[in-house]
Amino acid sequence: MKLRLHTFGLLLFLIGGLVACNGDSSSEETTQETTEESEEPTTVIIKESSELALLMRQMWDENMELRDRVISGEELVDLSEEYNRIHSANATEPEKITDTYHALADAYLTSMEALMNASEENRVEAFNNMVTTCVNCHRGVSCQGPIPKINRLRIRPTDEA
Ligand code: HEC
Repeated sequence: MKLRLHTFGLLLFLIGGLVACNGDSSSEETTQETTEESEEPTTVIIKESSELALLMRQMWDENMELRDRVISGEELVDLSEEYNRIHSANATEPEKITDTYHALADAYLTSMEALMNASEENRVEAFNNMVTTCVNCHRGVSCQGPIPKINRLRIRPTDEA
């Protein structure tokens, strides 16, 4: 029982770490609202996700699908145009959007292009290189939380058919 509780705690910690760059809740806002039905003001906690956080979640999901296509040898869908928004989307911590960030974003978009142009036999390598550019930015701008999750995208030799 003790062990199970411990595991649960660890799981919660891991999940929490995946949600944001750092574990803090600086994006949490507390607002006072008065509804027509009740005169009493109710306190609503809103946890807003930034445009960039939403784009990142979309990127993770779509890259998971892309990963399946790479493994099964299906045709790849080019998503890089949509991902250009990585340069302009509002971030939770705007101070992280520096020249370094934009350079790392370009490196990522270039690796995405390289994957789209890769020959059949180089696709797995190109895909994993792309994942590395995700991780490089996360290290570079100190957004460590999602790194273990991003690394799950990597294709290992045993994943290949
Ligand atoms: C150029 C830098 C950069 C690149 C490249 C990058 N990220 Fe991110 N990522 C960020 C930043 C900054 C945030 C924090 C966004 C925010 O909270 O506004 C973030 C947040 C995330 C999150 C957490 C989103 C949430 O729920 O709050 C995930 C997951 C993620 N990125 C996955 C990826 C994946 C997968 C890739 C590659 C396909 C990638 N990232 C490439 C900078 C980058």
